[in-house]
Amino acid sequence: RDYSIALIPGDGIGVDVIREGRKVLEAVCEIDGGLKFDYTEFDWSCEHYARHGKMMPDDGLERLRGFDSIYLGAVGYPGVPDHVSLWGLLLPIRRAFRQYINIRPVKLLRGIRSPLAGRSAEDLDFIVIRENNEGEYSSMGGRMYEGTPLDMAIQNSVFTRTGVERVLRYAFRLAQANGKRNRLTSATKSNGINHTMPFWDEYVGRITAEYPGVEVSNVHIDALCAFFVTKPDTFDVVVASNLFGDILTDLGAAIVGGLGIAPSANINPEKEFPSMFEPVHGSAPDIAGKGIANPIAAIWCVSMMLEHLGEAEAAKAVLEAVQDVLEEGQVLTPDLGGKASTRDVGDHICRKLRLA
Ligand code: NAI
Ligand code: MG
Repeated sequence: RDYSIALIPGDGIGVDVIREGRKVLEAVCEIDGGLKFDYTEFDWSCEHYARHGKMMPDDGLERLRGFDSIYLGAVGYPGVPDHVSLWGLLLPIRRAFRQYINIRPVKLLRGIRSPLAGRSAEDLDFIVIRENNEGEYSSMGGRMYEGTPLDMAIQNSVFTRTGVERVLRYAFRLAQANGKRNRLTSATKSNGINHTMPFWDEYVGRITAEYPGVEVSNVHIDALCAFFVTKPDTFDVVVASNLFGDILTDLGAAIVGGLGIAPSANINPEKEFPSMFEPVHGSAPDIAGKGIANPIAAIWCVSMMLEHLGEAEAAKAVLEAVQDVLEEGQVLTPDLGGKASTRDVGDHICRKLRLA
């Protein structure tokens, strides 16, 4: 079991948290002698952009193609417009490698107190499946009449039968497979968005027939945001378009301890291409360079990567070690009320792993 990993630490705190994630992978290999990872690091980032005028080289995608997984920190830094950093690296990877599923667990870990009063781990345990390849994040559109009173911008959304069916089927399967998760909530806004959202809803309706036993509800995105706060215990699997899923999952992160913890997996379910694992958070320029970023989101990503690679036992061990550290509450970064550094938390999680 020898896996090749492409590391793209990126910008800001991305660099700090990926270092800790790699440490954890190394600790996992110490424990399980049969497991081995080979790392190749790529310095693709806003700094790369400043030097070369591009986020990654022209053959960047080709160079990533052969890896088993991609492990990414975050990109984006003041001075480089965010749409440049995102469209120059992250979105091309998600699309070229058909990572059309973005898995974002909303799960309250042991040792974390939800800001929602009275909510326990039992109430807060669901998965958001975000469509990751099309939808509102399309580069179609443009700017017109700039510099005149008619100045305007138009952005098109793209929803295709292929794109919508595959993400819905994935979500339905997930809802059906897992005993507890037989309820699927679909995020919509078909009252205001009158072409793409009715299209999305129509496919939800058609596919429902293929998955007997899955209880489906269509909820408008605005109401759904409120329900994340008022009745999070009613969700099992939530499926959403690219933009809706993006917004929902920052909210999802907030109700289970914040962006410092929230992981995500960009999955190519067919495994024709590498999948990519990255924390939900960005490069956090406000705390970059201070050594206080929480590495837990990135380390949870390591667990999701192990799971995807078929190393379920190691995946579980990592998440257990994280929860042991959270529950103990002695070594935490400032976002969780502690005083520890990024490195301290990474080291402590490795220590727990070795002790387990
Ligand atoms: P952000 O996620 O970087 O930061 C939002 C807030 O959460 C900040 O106050 C930050 O300090 C805090 N935070 C985030 N991660 C944390 C961690 N691990 N530990 C402790 N606190 C943490 O989002 P923001 O500020 O909107 O974006 C900053 C830059 O990151 C932008 O350039 C944006 O485009 C980029 N970005 C990149 C993403 C990616 O590469 N996948 C995702 C989101 C944003
Ligand atoms: Mg986001």
